[in-house]
Amino acid sequence: MPELLRSVQHILKAEDTLEGAGVRLKRAFGNGEVPLFDPFLLLDNFGSTDPRDYVAGFPWHPHRGIETVTYMLEGQVDHEDSLGNKGRIDSGDVQWMTSGSGILHQEMPQRKEGEFQGFQLWVNIPSKLKMAEPAYRGLSGRDIPSIRNDSGTVKVVAGTHQGVEGPVKGIPVDPTYLDVALRPDAAFELPVKKGHTVFSYVVDGGARFEGRDGLVPAKRVVLLGDGDTVRLRAGAEGARLLLVSGRPLHEPVAWYGPIVMNTQEQLSQAMSELRHGTFIKAREIREG
Ligand code: FE2
Repeated sequence: MPELLRSVQHILKAEDTLEGAGVRLKRAFGNGEVPLFDPFLLLDNFGSTDPRDYVAGFPWHPHRGIETVTYMLEGQVDHEDSLGNKGRIDSGDVQWMTSGSGILHQEMPQRKEGEFQGFQLWVNIPSKLKMAEPAYRGLSGRDIPSIRNDSGTVKVVAGTHQGVEGPVKGIPVDPTYLDVALRPDAAFELPVKKGHTVFSYVVDGGARFEGRDGLVPAKRVVLLGDGDTVRLRAGAEGARLLLVSGRPLHEPVAWYGPIVMNTQEQLSQAMSELRHGTFIKAREIREG
């Protein structure tokens, strides 16, 4: 079978956004883009050298119906949740949290010299699993395999690249999550599943994508059309990018703040449970 290259469908510039208790971040996509990135709901890029932009953090708040994936490139985030997990997400670490029926947590960035940089991706959960038990995966950077060659380095958080499998498994939407660092002008190719949603977020430098002239600069998210192969090339300064794919759900999305369900009734139910203190269904620790 000849390969079918995925070409650029949309390029969006990450927008300055204020979140949590006053964290300045760049939002690559969010609830204004539903259902374009299905099954992905939101991608935020934290990044600042000024602690005032991030130390207010994300104090105690609920989630239901989604998975939140926090990946830190530089800096530390202290977290604590209603499952009893407590710890620090350090540079290079990933926290893949499945809120399922409900979780309360806080995510507090720690003051640091120099650059603080990281990402949070929201992954939707299929309707039949939205009220399933929560799960938590805290991965040290050492747990994340990387592939090095002449082109650069690829870290595999989830999915498989060149026979190397990432440590995050068993996620309903079958995601691939790669952190790709390319040398200047290096080419990169990735086989992907046809029908899956694929996007790339350019973190630093710039890259050229199939079917579009010109360099896509940093802080842009590129949504690719269908096909079975992603092909791109770094610009003269090299490129650091995230490459993410997943199986679209094609289900209705009802979204209120940190809770994403399928219907308004389910959202109202969640709000009522929060008011009455019955939101949390599971308090046991379950390591995913
Ligand atoms: Fe959160």
